[in-house]
Amino acid sequence: MKTSTLAPDAAGVARCAEILRGGGLVGLPTETVYGLAADATNAVAVARIYAAKGRPAFNPLIAHVPDLAAALRQGRFDPAALALAEAFWPGPLTLVVPVADTVSVCELARAGLSTLALRIPAHRLALEVIRAAACPVAAPSANRSGRISPTEAGHVLDELAGRVDAVLDGGPTGIGVESTIISCLADGPRLLRPGGLPRGAIEAVLGRALPDRTSTGQAHGAACPSAPVSGPLSPALLAPGLLASHYAPAAALRLAAAGAGADEGFLAFGPVPEAARRAAHILNLSPSGDLTEAAANLFGHLRALDARGIGMIAVAPVPDEGLGEAINDRLRRAAHPRR
Ligand code: TXA
Ligand code: MG
Repeated sequence: MKTSTLAPDAAGVARCAEILRGGGLVGLPTETVYGLAADATNAVAVARIYAAKGRPAFNPLIAHVPDLAAALRQGRFDPAALALAEAFWPGPLTLVVPVADTVSVCELARAGLSTLALRIPAHRLALEVIRAAACPVAAPSANRSGRISPTEAGHVLDELAGRVDAVLDGGPTGIGVESTIISCLADGPRLLRPGGLPRGAIEAVLGRALPDRTSTGQAHGAACPSAPVSGPLSPALLAPGLLASHYAPAAALRLAAAGAGADEGFLAFGPVPEAARRAAHILNLSPSGDLTEAAANLFGHLRALDARGIGMIAVAPVPDEGLGEAINDRLRRAAHPRR
């Protein structure tokens, strides 16, 4: 694919929105860093984000929304979350909240979690694109996995040329480090990632000290301990693969299964083998063996099989290449008994 660079004008914004609505990928400026944007409600588009980044695992993504009303449709805000949203949005603050019943952000973007990261960016172009696309926009930083976040359109091209449809050139980003991430869950506000909004400003609104994530990290998933933000080219502060509270089905999982019994579910990839035809329920990640399609279907299919109340889900082997590595990582986690 040829990556086009779009000017920061009405035509550029309209083209970005059109690409997003069509399931494509756009390098989008925000006030923190450039994001690699896709329609957060479209699991195939979200799977393309992971493929483009070369992410070794399906880290949950931040959903960017245009206003508080849109945020309230996606997540449930307790009084502390509301106070922080009202004080700092639009701005470099991401809030992790429980998902609302009306959530439209797909499960893949949430990595199957029952919580969701939300942000209203303080950037004219980002807001115009999100409004024009009329959907929540999933956007991790627009770097290849394991590299530093891009703060100029040229950096995005260095990282992702040929892997995204377009980059909207909004010039250098103002903040240059990623947003501060706060979880607002049952145990109160906690700092998951230091970032563009300083802790002190948050504590002033809360009227109390802001604890870091729990020392075990179990309740919140992601994040390394609050590493200092080191400057405009700070690397991503959250390591992928550290999520502890990952999605795990109630059913047990049997991986790399050649077949399935009549009392089992079967999660196929490619043609269903003869030895699996008697399975109680069969769903196929991708009949044609397409890994992008499989990634998009992964969490939804697991959840649907699990809802049938079967004790065991046999899972066909998935090749460990490209997105297959992330699919297998999530399958292994789902196969593990919950801690
Ligand atoms: O400034 C930013 O936040 C940029 C711009 C583009 O908005 N985005 C960004 O996204 O830094 P990303 O994907 O590079 O980092 C977001 C982090 C991930 O490492 C992920 O672990 C964490 O947010 N995260 C997302 N959803 C979460 C959840 N439900 N619980 C805990 N952590 C979550
Ligand atoms: Mg990042």
